[in-house]
Amino acid sequence: MAGLSGLDGKRILVIGGGGAGIGRAVVRSCAAAGAAVAVADVDPARATEAADELRAAGHVSCALSGDVRSIEQLDGVIVGAADQLGGLDTLITVVGGQVAFVPAVRLHEMIDDDWDTVYDVNLRYVARAVRRVLRLFLEQGTGGNIVSIGSVTGFMAAPKQAGYGAAKAGLYSLARTVAAEYAADGIRMNVVAGGAISTELPPT
Ligand SMILES: NC(=O)c1ccc[n+]([C@@H]2O[C@H](COP(=O)([O-])OP(=O)(O)OC[C@H]3O[C@@H](n4cnc5c(N)ncnc54)[C@H](O)[C@@H]3O)[C@@H](O)[C@H]2O)c1
Repeated sequence: MAGLSGLDGKRILVIGGGGAGIGRAVVRSCAAAGAAVAVADVDPARATEAADELRAAGHVSCALSGDVRSIEQLDGVIVGAADQLGGLDTLITVVGGQVAFVPAVRLHEMIDDDWDTVYDVNLRYVARAVRRVLRLFLEQGTGGNIVSIGSVTGFMAAPKQAGYGAAKAGLYSLARTVAAEYAADGIRMNVVAGGAISTELPPT
């Protein structure tokens, strides 16, 4: 994220921004580049700590809490961020992963509930958030930007990560469709395909 610039006056919501890994790096980089940043996380203490850190450094920031697996809470985070920042220009979805949520096992050992969980926290909530923020961008008439943290696992063989890889793969399709349907409205979506990055996550 080093070298981000040109975000002066932009209003950005980072879902999963309270994290110690990529989420925190994203909120710090966006704020350093001049953006006002709403930090959302399932853990209110993490969101508050991240927002406090940004404000202490002189940036505009607010904290919101919500579980992305709840439609109501996800909606509340997006509407709350727009209310507190006076609108939204960019949505960044960071929440995701496998080992933080379910065990890494071979595909034939994977139970349905774990497949659903991985799908929920890597693709379903992103699609819901994208749909909600598209409506907001269209109402604002300002265009908009959506960035999702994906993974190289979405386009490579992923032993013991089949559900994770399949869910991340869906993000690329979603982004291509947003581009095709909303480019004329000034709205774009990009997916950042991370490789292995050292964070708090236990090893796969
Ligand atoms: N770490 C890696 O090696 C790696 C590699 C490729 C892609 N990625 C992707 O990067 C993203 C961030 O991963 P990270 O390991 O850096 O995590 P992170 O440290 O950025 O933390 C993510 C945050 O999400 C929050 N969160 C978890 N469940 C939530 C929920 N249900 N609702 C709201 N918030 C929730 C956590 O509290 C945490 O603060 C994920 O999408 C992951 O798939 C990570």
